[in-house]
Amino acid sequence: MPKLKLGVLISGRGSNLQALISACSAPQFPAEIALVISNRADAKGLELAKKAGITTEIINHKAFKSRNAFDDAVSKALSNAGVKLVCLAGFMLLLQDRFVAKWQNQIINIHPSLLPAFRGLDVHERVVESGVRISGCTVHYVRPAVDDGPIIVQAAVAVLPGDTPESLADRILQTEHQLYPMAVEAIATGRAKVEDDIVVFDEAVTAAPPLVSPPLKNH
Ligand code: GRF
Repeated sequence: MPKLKLGVLISGRGSNLQALISACSAPQFPAEIALVISNRADAKGLELAKKAGITTEIINHKAFKSRNAFDDAVSKALSNAGVKLVCLAGFMLLLQDRFVAKWQNQIINIHPSLLPAFRGLDVHERVVESGVRISGCTVHYVRPAVDDGPIIVQAAVAVLPGDTPESLADRILQTEHQLYPMAVEAIATGRAKVEDDIVVFDEAVTAAPPLVSPPLKNH
């Protein structure tokens, strides 16, 4: 079966890009990265892509008259590379409605919270301040609103006493690196599909043990 061609959009560090690169390097993984696009020339992730021999393109949004013109340039580069699934991995710009409509159900994003809680920026700061005991990460299809769209997979991560936004971010990031390739694999193999704006799996999904945080003793 031909591999699903991915286009990965980044703006920075690129650790989730690296997780996808590593997953794609396994011969049996059903997807491959055709192109990495960054809107910033100084994104560290560009080096990771180059090291893996992946074609990179810098498309600077500031060089365009409008955001739609920028989106169109991104769209063209993705189409030219034969991309069928766009993976946002720390891409810090909001894609406009026209782009999202053109790539309907072909764009996914990873967000470091259990959506729909804690959408937007400064997630871990807000999580720690709020006192919730469990946070996590979500891979979802992209819709025009920020961090909105059908959820593909989520992982719960405990918020520990004494956590700082940084320590929590680090712990969640480890889980993100496992989760993103899992979501791509589920899409690439056709196991996960969008029906009526919800993701359904064509297999029985079994319950995982609950994460209790903190793990209180039974009395
Ligand atoms: C990740 O935490 C991701 O969930 C969020 O932005 C961060 C990107 O990190 N959307 P990296 O560039 O993949 O290391």
